[in-house]
Amino acid sequence: MEVGPINEHIKDQVREAADIVEVVGENVELRKAGNRYVGLCPFHNEKTPSFSVNPQAQFFYCFGCGESGDVFSFMMKYHHCDFPEALRKLAQKYHIDMPKRQMTEQEKKRLKIKENLYGACEEATRLYEQCLVSGKEAAVAQAYLEQRGVPSEFIKRYRLGFAPSPQAVGWAFQTQALQKKSIATDILEQAGLSVKKERGGYYDRFRSRIMFPIFDMTGQVVAFGGRILGDGKPKYMNSPESPVFEKSRLLFGLYQHREAIRQKRTAIVVEGNFDLLMLAVHGVDNVVAPLGTSLTPHHVRQMRSYCDQAVLLFDADTAGLKAAMRSVPYFLAESLECRIALLPEGHDPDSFVREAGPAGIQQRVEQARPLAEFVFDTLVKEYGLTLSGKAKIVEDLKPLLRDAKDSTQRSLMKAHFSEKLGTDLSLFEDGGKTLPATVPIPEPRVIPNNLQKKERQLFEFLLLHPECYQDLAEAGLTAVIEGGVAVQLLEILEKFCLEDAPDPERIFELTTDESVRSSIADLLTSVSVYADPEDGDSVKASMLKELLHWIEEVNYQKNGNVLQQQINEAERTGDLSLLMELLNKKMLLGKKRKGY
Ligand code: UTP
Ligand code: MN
Repeated sequence: MEVGPINEHIKDQVREAADIVEVVGENVELRKAGNRYVGLCPFHNEKTPSFSVNPQAQFFYCFGCGESGDVFSFMMKYHHCDFPEALRKLAQKYHIDMPKRQMTEQEKKRLKIKENLYGACEEATRLYEQCLVSGKEAAVAQAYLEQRGVPSEFIKRYRLGFAPSPQAVGWAFQTQALQKKSIATDILEQAGLSVKKERGGYYDRFRSRIMFPIFDMTGQVVAFGGRILGDGKPKYMNSPESPVFEKSRLLFGLYQHREAIRQKRTAIVVEGNFDLLMLAVHGVDNVVAPLGTSLTPHHVRQMRSYCDQAVLLFDADTAGLKAAMRSVPYFLAESLECRIALLPEGHDPDSFVREAGPAGIQQRVEQARPLAEFVFDTLVKEYGLTLSGKAKIVEDLKPLLRDAKDSTQRSLMKAHFSEKLGTDLSLFEDGGKTLPATVPIPEPRVIPNNLQKKERQLFEFLLLHPECYQDLAEAGLTAVIEGGVAVQLLEILEKFCLEDAPDPERIFELTTDESVRSSIADLLTSVSVYADPEDGDSVKASMLKELLHWIEEVNYQKNGNVLQQQINEAERTGDLSLLMELLNKKMLLGKKRKGY
């Protein structure tokens, strides 16, 4: 649901009325500390409070895990709901009327369809559950599940079911049964349960299959995955997309396993329905599976709101490996750590957990390696590290870079991979395609690899020592900060530093931009770790010196690069007087730098 103009208005009203201290306080025990409130963070396990609520800014953040946001994001994160739901809950609490009647006819129609689709999926689930208990072929289906090691308790918990074969019940068994429940055929068709025949009439999509209902995050069934009973093709059949089911947004198992994932701060990602089920049967219940697709940015974001890391648990020979590569930038974008664990040849998580038990899985998970490293090593294995091998590796990595959300991320990945390859950053630029050994590789135009780290250091330093801003600014600070968020952050930090009495507690009041706010929260988190008043001035002085040096250095390199290009050009055109002038400049620049 979009936040239309009506919701926008309501949103403002609710924001006015709602008090974040009160809203958070209903779920978290808060205690006043200065002009803010602190308590135990509800988003990660902790014993000492690092969760802070700021009533002035109506904003919360956690020094421990970095979660942050306003009253709406708190509701969404805490109650695992979407924005409209959070808005509705808060509006209700603060007695603000939601304009129900303002829905357009079309919206009403769409809502009705969705309700009908939910209804159809629920009825189908009940029917399939029933077919597994009794009726034709029920015994065969039960025997299959028993042979695969699924206890009846789990059949109930996951609401597993069975769609009998057409030989036993005909081709329109489910269609007719649901029609009898007054569900219209066009709804059955939209739900993907019934398929329209060329010559009219409908037949059942799912036949001779063990049925796995797929739940959305409200706990309603929105789709099915069906595993053929015995051999036959296709082995798995999934519902097509519908107004209530978007494959790219839903993870199988997330609804059932969200609490386990949250408690363990880890989501194990497997490929198969039975993999997921059997891990759960063996007590490994922090597991999810995408529905026959590779991971999407939505999937990753969704996991992000429950945990700090994802572990991909794959067969050694799976086709999913290449697909997993593509998810590297998504994980980077969400700052969700991703590692990958491979199983011994010939095993999938289902067979492996039955052989090695939960401890075996645990061990693999603990030994899992960072995804980016893994991708790199896989490519090295495939292409080798010869010159042409490297070129191929770079080509394979480029699509990953294209998928990276922002320039900071891209530079991060470029830096990472070029360091590992021992090649130049610019190889990853489009256009700089090949690796000809004869042509010298141009100087990297962008600043050294450690830019990220330095930027961070700089920002953290400014938070701790706003009084040093002037010094750094005069050294050419603004020229060295590049890339979206960093620039935005610097703007806010500048405002902060130039205030009469800069107070980190109030820095959130300087911006309403959620992503900048969370970056700030993130910075505050790391600052709080090493901000030790005992450190005294010597640390400050040496940090300042280091940062000043860095700024000079980067500016020198930047200017130097531009200068060098001009020199090359002057040399090429033979403009001697210009050349002299430029060489002179270069010398001066060099001297100035040595002054440090
Ligand atoms: P696999 O072929 O690895 O099957 O597919 P599996 O999970 O080991 O199946 P079992 O153990 O024989 O029952 C992995 C996943 O890929 C999707 C399904 O979600 C499946 O669980 N898939 C597979 C499909 O969507 N369609 C297919 O035809 C096959
Ligand atoms: Mn399997």
